[in-house]
Amino acid sequence: MDFRISAGVLCAAISFSAVASAQDTQNLVELGAHTFADNCQKCHQIDGYGEEALYPSLRDPQLLANKPLLIKTILHGRTAQQADGTEEPRMPSLDYLTNREITALIAFISKSWGNEVLLVNSEDITQAR
Ligand code: HEC
Repeated sequence: MDFRISAGVLCAAISFSAVASAQDTQNLVELGAHTFADNCQKCHQIDGYGEEALYPSLRDPQLLANKPLLIKTILHGRTAQQADGTEEPRMPSLDYLTNREITALIAFISKSWGNEVLLVNSEDITQAR
């Protein structure tokens, strides 16, 4: 009897935490959608396809599984080396975004255009700053 009760409580606890974390992910993806609209969409476009020759498409599952590359690109932006050796700015640094906003952005773009939701750690972002 005792056993059955505690097993029931345990099952309830497990399913509660699964629901809570799905809700967390959903909240994160929603925050990511807003953050994308405010900070990325003007170049990469609302559908992530970008603009040919100017802004690359983000709809690439391999890119959207690469945590270090995504974190680094968002924090530090991108430059392109010119023929004369100087660096031309291509994508601005977006390091004013908080760790949570960056986590949310990566969750949103990977859910929308990758194979699965990619969740990064706040510590990984802090380390890359
Ligand atoms: C001012 C325009 C601009 C904005 C704003 C911008 N990007 Fe970019 N982004 C670019 C350009 C241009 C490149 C390509 C840089 C290069 O040539 O390497 C790029 C590259 C990238 C890449 C790498 C693509 C690859 O194939 O390696 C990722 C990922 C990315 N951007 C994500 C974002 C996210 C997320 C945001 C918003 C937080 C954002 N960008 C905001 C212009 C922009």
